[in-house]
Amino acid sequence: MGRINILDKHTAELIAAGEVVERPSSVIKELVENAIDAGATAVTVEIKNGGVTFMRVSDNGCGILREDIRPAFIRHATSKVASESDLDAIATLGFRGEALASIASVSHLELITKAKEEDIGTRCIIEGGEEISLTDAGCPDGTTFIVRDLFYNVPARMKFLKTDMAEGNAVSNVVDKIALSHPEIAINYIRDQKNVLHTSGDGKLLSAIYSVYGRDFASRLIPVDYTLGGIHVTGFISRPEDARPNRNMQNFFINRRFVICKTAMAAISEACKGSVMVGRFPSCVLDLDMSFNAVDVNVHPTKLEVRFVNERPVFDAVYHAVKTALMTGEKRVEAKLPDSRPVKRVNPFELAQKVFRERDEAPVQTKPLERKPLDRAAEAKKADELFRVLDEPVVHAPKRTRRARRECSEDGLGFSLALCRRISAAYRRKAHAERRYRV
Ligand SMILES: Nc1ncnc2c1ncn2[C@@H]1O[C@H](COP(=O)(O)OP(=O)(O)OP(=O)(O)O)[C@@H](O)[C@H]1O
Ligand SMILES: [Mg+2]
Repeated sequence: MGRINILDKHTAELIAAGEVVERPSSVIKELVENAIDAGATAVTVEIKNGGVTFMRVSDNGCGILREDIRPAFIRHATSKVASESDLDAIATLGFRGEALASIASVSHLELITKAKEEDIGTRCIIEGGEEISLTDAGCPDGTTFIVRDLFYNVPARMKFLKTDMAEGNAVSNVVDKIALSHPEIAINYIRDQKNVLHTSGDGKLLSAIYSVYGRDFASRLIPVDYTLGGIHVTGFISRPEDARPNRNMQNFFINRRFVICKTAMAAISEACKGSVMVGRFPSCVLDLDMSFNAVDVNVHPTKLEVRFVNERPVFDAVYHAVKTALMTGEKRVEAKLPDSRPVKRVNPFELAQKVFRERDEAPVQTKPLERKPLDRAAEAKKADELFRVLDEPVVHAPKRTRRARRECSEDGLGFSLALCRRISAAYRRKAHAERRYRV
């Protein structure tokens, strides 16, 4: 008997799902990319417990026709690619027709959708890849996916999930990248019932950067806009002095798709040589707009890496774009200064002389010294009290601190330093009082 088994459909699906769905953030990435491909202008992402128990992605896109719902969950079923030639120039974020099938096979999935051309929406429930129900639903145009209990049927994968916090952070990272790559889409992100990100969807990259990274970061960026060899590089780069110790805030998009682009990273490092310290990396949000057939996006299971037909033009475009931006950025800062904040030069020597002159010329304030009449009776009472205390034997040494004990005299009394000081001060006062009142 041969040693090779042909795996059953269910096992094969679980293996295939592992390539696409690694953790909650990969589910969110796929669902939001589907929403973008569906022409949505507003997308809401909600997660609970890092996405492990609950994820929801709602969009106002074209919706899924009822007759397309079942095919959508079949592996290699897609509306985005029809033939082999389409693969040469992929313009959509999705194209493999694998995401929904993979997600549905490892979770409890609920889909609520209504296509614009249909009168009534549909609710579909799928558990572990098996359809449970498909019914009418009253809902607005668009699509909502709710994914619960990820990997409930694949304990081996569940084991590799990190803490809810780490998984939630990975989801936040994905949502940030999508918000930066699509400023024309209003993205609302809710994490454990807290609204943590909201982009306006006004189409301006700077507003998206403002929402994601905050005002301070957004206000200190240098714009990049450069075209070379058919590649249009747009976006923003941070000033050399704001460079960071890692590349976490280097964001590259190829035709609005977030990718890890080593060529662009190398080009930036090269362009910043001399202006950025070694071991530091400028932050950036750069989109490289290029011909769809100059780049192959079908090389990585989660589409996070791409292959260029020719790497050199990409390197050159990014290099020159960044170099030019840094040069004009520096000039702009110098040119702006006199307008925004006029610089008044001050001679410190003259300033000091002026201050001294003013001080010397100021009229001297003389105030007659007020002497309080000596209350002899009160002073005598205080002295009496002191003598009474000093004549009493010291029976209780106050709490000794370690330092006081170390510094305490060796004469065997064992008083704390503070007490010694108080006693000697009291004796000094006693001598003074004796002299004063001739006791
Ligand atoms: N939010 C949505 N709105 C409208 N249609 C959708 C939505 N999500 C999925 N679809 C439809 O379901 C199909 C299957 O989606 P799925 O994500 O599995 O594959 P894909 O996006 O075509 O490719 P990939 O696996 O690369 O993401 C899509 O081609 C699309 O027609
Ligand atoms: Mg997809």
